[in-house]
Amino acid sequence: MLCKKLHHAAFRCKDAAETVKFYTEVLGLKFAHAMGEDHVPSTGKYSPHIHIFFEMEDGSNIAFFECPQDQGEPSGRDPHTPAWVQHFAFEVENIDTLLQAKKNLEGKGLSVVGPTNHDDFITSIYFFDPSGHRLELTTRTCDPARYPEFEAEAPQVLALWNATHDWSQREKVFGAKTGYVRASQST
Ligand SMILES: [Fe+2]
Repeated sequence: MLCKKLHHAAFRCKDAAETVKFYTEVLGLKFAHAMGEDHVPSTGKYSPHIHIFFEMEDGSNIAFFECPQDQGEPSGRDPHTPAWVQHFAFEVENIDTLLQAKKNLEGKGLSVVGPTNHDDFITSIYFFDPSGHRLELTTRTCDPARYPEFEAEAPQVLALWNATHDWSQREKVFGAKTGYVRASQST
């Protein structure tokens, strides 16, 4: 496979110092690298900025730019996209870790949504960083033996979506009007 793993996903932040404090102290990530340029290295455009990286256990990173002279919303959030759509999800060890993290985050004054079960595939909690980016902590909750079933099903899910653009016929692929009741799960 060409793409081996996530190196980083990058977002705009309002304030780099505030962002460092949040990602190191609240989420416990490593402040692994900071770069500064007056011109965007790839395009040459003038935009003084700092580019900061926060490393996870597997070496992958979430990264941010504070670029105050550039145009647009300082948080970098797309105003035309619902707040629940654009988000970054960190995987945690297990459900106990997830529930403890919810307590810890709430203890630090954050508003946390969840835990939310997604198709018995993953369970997640949600909150926002200081710039307004939605973050998710998630843990895998399904038997890995079901992954091939999900992969085989995905094109059928997409085909029904392309045909209807709603889920009025969702029982055709998910086995029920709400929830997920697949034939393979019926005993
Ligand atoms: Fe997600």
